[in-house]
Amino acid sequence: MSKFKAIILLLFISSSVFANDRPNFNLLTASRNQLPAPIKITVHIDPVYNTEKQYKAYPLAKIVNSLARQSTKSLIDSILVFTATDGYKVTMSYQDALLEKGYIAFKDLSAKNESWVKFKFGNESITPAPYYLVWTNPELDKWRYPSPFQLTSISLQSATSYFSSAAPVSNNTKVKQGFSLFSRYCIRCHSVNHTGGKLGPELNLPKNITDYYSEQKLTDFILDASSFRPKTKMPVFKNILNNEDALAIQYYLKAMKSKQK
Ligand code: HEC
Repeated sequence: MSKFKAIILLLFISSSVFANDRPNFNLLTASRNQLPAPIKITVHIDPVYNTEKQYKAYPLAKIVNSLARQSTKSLIDSILVFTATDGYKVTMSYQDALLEKGYIAFKDLSAKNESWVKFKFGNESITPAPYYLVWTNPELDKWRYPSPFQLTSISLQSATSYFSSAAPVSNNTKVKQGFSLFSRYCIRCHSVNHTGGKLGPELNLPKNITDYYSEQKLTDFILDASSFRPKTKMPVFKNILNNEDALAIQYYLKAMKSKQK
């Protein structure tokens, strides 16, 4: 290798190790000393096996904190992106991840000879290997605390770049605050410009939601959807968000009228 190429390579490696706008932790290639010390954990109602499980696992917070140290972006509107073997991606709020105890499980302690016990997934019989995200607090909302299996990597990204079609153009503080709340609490189920989840309706296309709901109705709906539709799958937010938050989300949604695509 020429000296020139070697220097370029060195620059590339050092910048990707120390500072990055999208730091990534590859679970498959991480060395022993990059991985945190494993511990034994108990999950009371495992979301995949529907029973109590014990695993050997790495504390998620340790991995997330090492990603945060490498990040060059503001962490306030950051999200974690979990990628599985087949390329499937699940996201969650960076702030939420650090509020609870999450673990990256790599061995099922009830499996006798192998590392994992199989489970039925559609027509197939599969295992969560190589890595599986679990949470020990049984009270957590699944839409905020996902449990993806067959994980291969975790990255820390800004919501603005990951959900770029749903990100506002405006630099207004309220609008930005609203997007930050929306990407933390709503985007899992709702899309804006077809970016986001599909459980709830799209909120900008073809008509922006603020065009057909009054501000007061929208605030009431966001804080307590069950008072409008008793069997709705939308969670009640009045214990998590206040009026001001609901208004900030509306500033953001209104701002998206100028970016309908
Ligand atoms: C777990 C999924 C989920 C989450 C999270 C969620 N919603 Fe919903 N939302 C729904 C579903 C499902 C509906 C459809 C309501 C129904 O008819 O049951 C809905 C309906 C709505 C509606 C009414 C849409 C219409 O056209 O009538 C609004 C507005 C809304 N959600 C805003 C939000 C906001 C803002 C957040 C975040 C604070 C949020 N939702 C979080 C699932 C969700």
